[in-house]
Amino acid sequence: MTADVKPVDELSMDEARAELARLEAAIARADTAYHQNDAPEISDAAYDALKRRNAAIEARFPELMRADSPSTRVGAAPAEGFAKVRHARRMLSLGNAFAPEEVAEFDARIRRYLGLGPDAPLLYTAEPKIDGLSLSLRYEDGALVQAATRGDGETGENVTANARTIADIPQHLTDAPALLEVRGEVYMSHADFAALNARQEAAGDKRFANPRNAAAGSLRQLDPAITATRPLNFVAYGWGALSAPLADTQMGAIKRLHALGFSTNPLTRLCDGPDQMLAHYATIEQGRATLGYDIDGVVYKIDDLALQDRLGFRATTPRWAIAHKFPAELAWTRLERIEIQVGRTGALSPVARLSPVTVGGVVVSNATLHNEDYIAGRDSTGNPIRDGKDIRVGDWVQVYRAGDVIPKIADVDLSKRPDGARPYRFPTHCPECGSEAIREEGDSVRRCTGGMICPAQAVERLKHFVSRGAFDIEGLGAKQVEMFYRDDTLPIREPADIFTLRARDAATLAKLKNREGWGAKSADNLFAAIEARRTIPLDRLIYALGIRHVGEVSADLLARNYLTWTAFETAMTQATVGQGPEWDSLLSIDGVGQVMATSLVTAFHQPAERASIDRLVAHLNVQDATPRGQVDSPVAGKTVVFTGTLEKMTRAEAKARAEALGAKVAGSVSAKTDLLVAGPGAGSKAKKAAELGIETLDEDAWLALIGDG
Ligand code: IVH
Repeated sequence: MTADVKPVDELSMDEARAELARLEAAIARADTAYHQNDAPEISDAAYDALKRRNAAIEARFPELMRADSPSTRVGAAPAEGFAKVRHARRMLSLGNAFAPEEVAEFDARIRRYLGLGPDAPLLYTAEPKIDGLSLSLRYEDGALVQAATRGDGETGENVTANARTIADIPQHLTDAPALLEVRGEVYMSHADFAALNARQEAAGDKRFANPRNAAAGSLRQLDPAITATRPLNFVAYGWGALSAPLADTQMGAIKRLHALGFSTNPLTRLCDGPDQMLAHYATIEQGRATLGYDIDGVVYKIDDLALQDRLGFRATTPRWAIAHKFPAELAWTRLERIEIQVGRTGALSPVARLSPVTVGGVVVSNATLHNEDYIAGRDSTGNPIRDGKDIRVGDWVQVYRAGDVIPKIADVDLSKRPDGARPYRFPTHCPECGSEAIREEGDSVRRCTGGMICPAQAVERLKHFVSRGAFDIEGLGAKQVEMFYRDDTLPIREPADIFTLRARDAATLAKLKNREGWGAKSADNLFAAIEARRTIPLDRLIYALGIRHVGEVSADLLARNYLTWTAFETAMTQATVGQGPEWDSLLSIDGVGQVMATSLVTAFHQPAERASIDRLVAHLNVQDATPRGQVDSPVAGKTVVFTGTLEKMTRAEAKARAEALGAKVAGSVSAKTDLLVAGPGAGSKAKKAAELGIETLDEDAWLALIGDG
């Protein structure tokens, strides 16, 4: 790099694009010289400088990052972790079943949805659920162009370079659709895991707790050369975006993937209903110990892909598949002490500190105790749990872990209770700020009343603010937020402070740049990441505010209803809890109930909280949301009523599909109704619609309208 190189911060988009192209060419040339010709043309340091500059420009202009960027290739270690990848189709998780009855209920639910009787034939596949981590591989014209982890389902990490080192992952496919995303699980076998841990130990490196952690740690190495030394496997179980279908059935598609060169699980079977599914579950469970890799259950999927399509998805899980999990693993250990953590909303959460114990291959030393009732042996309605046994410090407790969830306490061994152990007294004051902690009627949680003065709440709110679904600021995670919160020279005490960081005086900033483990580079990267987030979509902002009961889905709902920050803020300010037109219109949003509405309005009327929100928004450029239902469909935004008997689909399916197309489905006809879909036997609703002059269609006309006729 010569002296006239501009700082990354000062590059325009066009300059950045041009420079990325130059860098890409220079790096490719250096790669060829080094790897293929064994004749390096530039020094290692010069090569690293090219890579770093490339990564820094990409970090500032992620939209310019190319699928074949040098930072995704072997040898590249992007300066700041992995680049983000937005999945073309979301990567979902699976609903769980634990008992045979839940499997029968899964089948019954599907039949109801599809309008199939109990005896109508319905095929499922059943296959092991491998305990690894999911990976999406994107092939374009047969060439592997990208590999991404699941991340939050919408956005994952670009681990292409690492995936290229896995022998099971073909780099080229013949006779594949032009676009094919293959999804599957990366995992490590027991034998490879044991050998890796032995090597780690010999080299004085840390051992991995279990094969899953070893696989995840190996795939998410910043240096693909390390991944290459780790024995990882990949098994394909599904697909994402496609330019042409793989087959008509799940089984057919899996066979096709196998023919294309992917490993697929040989224990995949076709079953004609719950009895055969449970029988295959039993077979797999029996063979579990000798499989040679970890599985945590059996996945059942509807075989017919047209039916999978009709069944579609709930918020985060498909209706057409379920994971039948093996029973949770259990272990006994001693409860050393109970600690209270204070959360973002002031909730006092008791955590059990345990003598470390291995549960299903994982060392557990903490477990959640939920709330004071749970410790006392009661559920939220006052009924006994654990036969009413309370939990005391010093007790022998039984810990269990089901899947990925935080360990819980299943039972207490009273025969081992130490003499003198006393019932746990739940604190009535916040351990962090000393404010009174109160429990409102009907609430199982005790909350600190300190609000903004409670440091624990403030830090947790900041952590939430920078979290993935919220502002997601690269380089400003939970750890950094804690550090800044406690820093007296350069404090971040509330979200607005993040956006004034750079504008603080030069001497203060110099301190940041000199701080241990930081340096000018990472400070500049942080500023760039913060700048990039000054422009923020409305739904992320609403979610980031951390208002109780407002999660990501609700924030999206609110954003799509109010569309602009001004409209949202005005409505919340003008609303009064329990009355008035603003309150009614807030409640009329499908998905917003009394509890959430109260929480929202209260937050905007709480002076300190409100002032903090205003200070924040003054620094932002909030992007308007797309209206709810702005899906490209002829029924988007319309209110539809179904009546009479539908013959090609059930009511549940009709409703779900209309909603997926952006329509609102109502139960009764009113002046607001846009469309009535009337099957045979339609009665009073059809009459009323006719009186009101509302357009009425039969089922076939409806299907034709939505493009399914
Ligand atoms: S199907 C839309 N099949 O389990 C459904 N998932 O809990 C996509 N997994 O994220 C998943 N083995 O990582 C499917 N045979 C299998 C699986 C499997 C393991 C993992 C996968 C997924 C998670 C869901």
